[in-house]
Amino acid sequence: MYKIRLSSGHLMPVLGLGTWQAAPDVVTQAVLSALNVGYRHIDTAYNYRNEDAIGSALQQWFKEGNNREDLFITTKLPHVGNRPADVENYLNRSLSRLKLDYVDLYLIHMPFTFSPDETGDSPAKNEDGTLVLNETDHIGVWKEMEKQVNAGKVRSIGISNFNKSQIERLCNIATIQPSCLQIEMHAALQQKDLVDFCKQKNIAITAYSPLGSPGSKQHFMNKYQISLQSPDILHSDTVTKLAKTHKRTPAQILLRHIVQLGAAVIPKSSNPARISENSKIFDFELSESEMEEMKHLDQGEKGRILDFKFFKGVENHPEYPFPKAVSN
Ligand code: A2P
Repeated sequence: MYKIRLSSGHLMPVLGLGTWQAAPDVVTQAVLSALNVGYRHIDTAYNYRNEDAIGSALQQWFKEGNNREDLFITTKLPHVGNRPADVENYLNRSLSRLKLDYVDLYLIHMPFTFSPDETGDSPAKNEDGTLVLNETDHIGVWKEMEKQVNAGKVRSIGISNFNKSQIERLCNIATIQPSCLQIEMHAALQQKDLVDFCKQKNIAITAYSPLGSPGSKQHFMNKYQISLQSPDILHSDTVTKLAKTHKRTPAQILLRHIVQLGAAVIPKSSNPARISENSKIFDFELSESEMEEMKHLDQGEKGRILDFKFFKGVENHPEYPFPKAVSN
């Protein structure tokens, strides 16, 4: 399995299994399917509410004689726990659910913070339905993240969904530099500027939704009654053509493209055949001219699928990371 050397010195497998939207009753089997076809990197988050089921899969895999040291497990500090006093507490809960004594990578999931409701898991709401925003102290949170590394509960630390100026602020005060930035990245949102910036800072990139998140439309309609705009990159002419040329599937072309841009990929799937298909991306290469063709699919900000505005009122948070309005 191909790996990226992080600034922490640890290795991160380039291919991981994404598990957002994977319900507990399906994720255990998905993780076992992935491990059985060679995945060694599993990505989850406190907010995905599936850490417990993932922990059960890992326990089963260890029982079969496999080693913890061979795995790379990522989880994330939730937006409702994004304050210095909460970091250790939420990490401990994640570790206990995952049934692990350390995670390989702990990320600040979002650059903004909400007040938790009475369950502690979801954002509290104002009377008008907007979420209760809290001030966010990135520097204080980062210092607590560093303490978790020193305590041995986390091997590497990083951020997710942060923009350039937010990353710069952290880098300026960090004793332990962020190892990884996890962002939405796919053919329609190629993120060249942010990727180049992170390269200079020696921050590895992990691309989420690398297939263009085809399952999200249904998810957001069901959960928030929101109709999501998402570019159908899996069926674009360029991808269809390259799939024919290389005798690969469109998904394999999309994943290979992102890997050749230098990022790790964490495609989500709960289907064993597709989990296996998505892993077969290391035995072919897109040529320079094919990479150029893929460049034309980039729509910049217009290609972003997950702008988090489904968190009602989030764009009014001072740390909202994306442009508030995107011109056509
Ligand atoms: P499924 O779980 O039924 O396989 P992304 O990682 O970009 O968010 O995409 C995840 C979505 O893409 C899921 O809905 C998943 O559905 C679907 N998917 C995963 N792998 C493939 C594939 N190889 N071909 C087509 N769709 C896929």
